[in-house]
Amino acid sequence: MIILAIETSCDETSIALVKGSGGLKKPKFKVIKNLVLSQIKIHAPFGGVVPTLAKREHLKNLPLLYQQIFPKNQILDNLDIIAVTVGPGLEPALWMGIQFAKSLKQKIKNKKVKLIGVNHLEAHLYSFLLSLKNSAFKPSKIFPAVVLLVSGGHTILLEMKSLTEWKKLGETRDDAVGESFDKVARLLGLPYPGGPEIEKLAVLGDPNAIKFPRPMISQKNYDFSFSGLKTSVLYYLRDLKNISKKIKANKFFKPTTNLEKSLVANVAASFQKAAIDVLIAKTMRAAREFKVKSIILCGGVASNKALKSNLKKEAKKAGLNFFSPPMEYNTDNAAMVGVAAYFTYLRNKKYKLEAKGNLNI
Ligand code: KG4
Ligand code: ZN
Repeated sequence: MIILAIETSCDETSIALVKGSGGLKKPKFKVIKNLVLSQIKIHAPFGGVVPTLAKREHLKNLPLLYQQIFPKNQILDNLDIIAVTVGPGLEPALWMGIQFAKSLKQKIKNKKVKLIGVNHLEAHLYSFLLSLKNSAFKPSKIFPAVVLLVSGGHTILLEMKSLTEWKKLGETRDDAVGESFDKVARLLGLPYPGGPEIEKLAVLGDPNAIKFPRPMISQKNYDFSFSGLKTSVLYYLRDLKNISKKIKANKFFKPTTNLEKSLVANVAASFQKAAIDVLIAKTMRAAREFKVKSIILCGGVASNKALKSNLKKEAKKAGLNFFSPPMEYNTDNAAMVGVAAYFTYLRNKKYKLEAKGNLNI
C-alpha cells in the first residue's frame, strides 16, 4: 500500500511517501520520502507558534514540498491512500493540510485512491515502528507496553495491549512537558523551541545544583503537572535580581561572566532533571503495575537524550524492552502520519475530514 501523507498540525509542514505492507499481523514500513519544512525561524521572534503565520506558511510550503516529491507534478499510478492529520493541533494550520489533501484527491484520475484523516497522537504512538528493521515486528516482545507520549502539546501515559488496543492511564493536568521546556527556556532568555536549547545548556550544568520540585511524583495516579515546576524556576530566577533584570532587558539572555554561565546551566540541568525524574518514575511504576514487556517513548521530547538514555537504562534494569523512533521521527513529520494511516485504514476507523483542535487518543 503506497501512502502519501500530509502533516500540518503545528509549525512543521511535512509530506511523506510511505509504503506499508504485512497487514495487522506483520506490519512493515518503508519511508520512501519524508520531507519536513520547519517554520521555527518565522515563529522564533514571537517566542512561540503564531497560528495565523503557521497557516500562511503551510499554504506556501505544501506545493513546494509536493513538487520536490513529484517534480513533474505527476502523481503515482499506484498510490492507494492520501492521508492527512485532522487533529489535535492548531485548527487554522490543520485546515491547510486538509484542503491540500482534498484538492489532490480531486486532481487524481484514479478514483480508487482513498482520502483518510489521521489522529496526530496515533501518529506519534505508532512512530516507534519506524525503528524496527525489516520484519522485526515481534508482538510478543512488545505487548503489553507502556507508552510515554511527550510533545509540545501532550504528556500522556498509555497502556498499549496490541497495535489496535490501548488505554490512557494518565496525562498532564496543566502544561505539557515540551511546553514547560519551552517556557523555562524563555525564562532563561533562550530562543524557541526551548527543548533542544535547554538540553544543550543542561550538559554544561549540575543537575543536582538546585532542588526543584518533582510535582506529583509520589501520587498513586498516572497524571502529571508541570506548571508548578516552571513557576519554581521563575521564582528562583526572580530572587536572583541581577540576572532576571538582564534577561528582561535582552530578551535572549547571553550570560557574560563565568558565574552567570554556570548559574544558567545549573538551572537548565536541574529543571531538566526534575522533569525527567517525574516522567521516568511514573512510567516505571506503570510498567510494574501492568506487568508490561516493553516501554515505548515517543513525541518531540523523546529527542531529549537524557530522557531517552535514562528511561532506556531503567527499562533494561527492569528486564524490559525499550522502543523509540529514530531521531528524525520524534518531532512532527508526515512519515509517522503515513504509518498511522495504514492502521486507520486497516481498522476501518474513520475521522471526519475536518480540523479538530482537541482530538483525543
Ligand atoms: O511532537 P512535537 O514536534 O510537536 C507536538 O506535537 O507538540 O514536539 C515539540 C516539542 C516542543 O515543545 C520542543 O521544545 C520539544 O518537543 N523538544 C524537546 C527536545 N526537542 C524537541 N524537549 C526536550 N528536549 C529536546 N531535545
Ligand atoms: Zn506532534
